[in-house]
Amino acid sequence: MQVPVLTIDGPSGAGKGTVSRAVARQLQWHYLDSGSIYRSLAIASLKAGGNLENVEQVSQIAEQMQLEFDCQAELIVYLNGENISAELGKETTGNAASIVAAYPEVRARLLQKQKDFQRLPGLVADGRDMGSVVFPDAQYKVYLTASAAERGLRRYKQLIEKGIDANLEQITQEIEARDLRDQQRSVAPLTIPTGAIAIDSSDMTIDQVIERVMNLVR
Ligand code: DC
Repeated sequence: MQVPVLTIDGPSGAGKGTVSRAVARQLQWHYLDSGSIYRSLAIASLKAGGNLENVEQVSQIAEQMQLEFDCQAELIVYLNGENISAELGKETTGNAASIVAAYPEVRARLLQKQKDFQRLPGLVADGRDMGSVVFPDAQYKVYLTASAAERGLRRYKQLIEKGIDANLEQITQEIEARDLRDQQRSVAPLTIPTGAIAIDSSDMTIDQVIERVMNLVR
């Protein structure tokens, strides 16, 4: 029996994580946060005292690292048995992830780990290349985006709410730099996958986006 897959791709800060988790919960499907795999690899490489520019070393770590995911209200990730959830969401981790994710060797090594998430009753897969590379045959594909200014503002508000000092201009610039790196890399660049429905969430609430995606699957 074919296991249904819903892919949700798009740039950072478009709301993919929140939407994917909510939809997975409503459908009672499994959830793959592929960004957290690249984030975990960046953390593993830095913990090993490695240099993110050393492709050889980073891809070896990609091969060896043991990851376990516990999908509670928040995602909990264990790297070689250690809970790294607190470091996972940091801006520095996201930027480092975008560097290691650009290496073709690294992406090839992480492909099967991601495909293994496709299990009954279904999977919601969130990332940059879910509908284009990892699950090209997915039944349902969404490309979720929002303007860089809006994504920067959302991220800024999240940080301020958490009591973390933040600079809106700097955050927006970092988002634009990350978009460019994710779009211009040679393998699996961020693009709108064939057959995907594009949703611009700039002027939508999260609930409206969730409703649109649920209507697609229903
Ligand atoms: O979605 P995120 O912010 O957690 O992703 C962090 C980085 O990982 C992102 O800048 C690019 C990379 N990534 C990727 O290359 N492919 C994916 N499927 C998911 C994330």
